Amino acid sequence: MKKKLIKSTVLLLSLLVGVASVAVAVTEVDMDLMQRIEESTKNVDSNISLKDGKAALADAREIEEMFSKVELYYKHKGDAADAIEYARKSKNFATELIRQVSEKDFDSASATVSSLAKSCKTCHQVYKKS
Ligand code: HEC
Repeated sequence: MKKKLIKSTVLLLSLLVGVASVAVAVTEVDMDLMQRIEESTKNVDSNISLKDGKAALADAREIEEMFSKVELYYKHKGDAADAIEYARKSKNFATELIRQVSEKDFDSASATVSSLAKSCKTCHQVYKKS
């Protein structure tokens, strides 16, 4: 009986922690996340040039995941339909990269990185203050 109670307390606590971290993930598009996006974008670019499929794939997956967070952030923030769309576009470029790199189509992947870089600027022009 007691054991059961402890078990459900632990479960409840871990649920709470889970909810808290999701909340953190969506309430901040902080500089940290953007810095990491920039870092991974640079990495994926050079890894595609080096035709290092494994590393490029890891980078592209990270970029995809980070833009999912950006998209979620703007969804929760509200009144930012354009930003949601920009984030989704960037995420889709990352998804495309994953496919192209998996198929070892490095030429197309390289073109996709250029499109991704342009998509950063599009959003910054509207939503980045400085
Ligand atoms: C959906 C909109 C959006 C997209 C897409 C976007 N960004 Fe940003 N980015 C922002 C906003 C907003 C800021 C400013 C954040 C702030 O002021 O807190 C920013 C800031 C930055 C910064 C500045 C961080 C600092 O420390 O000064 C860098 C670097 C950056 N973004 C890189 C990128 C790169 C690289 C991409 C594309 C691969 C990208 N961003 C795509 C919205 C976006």
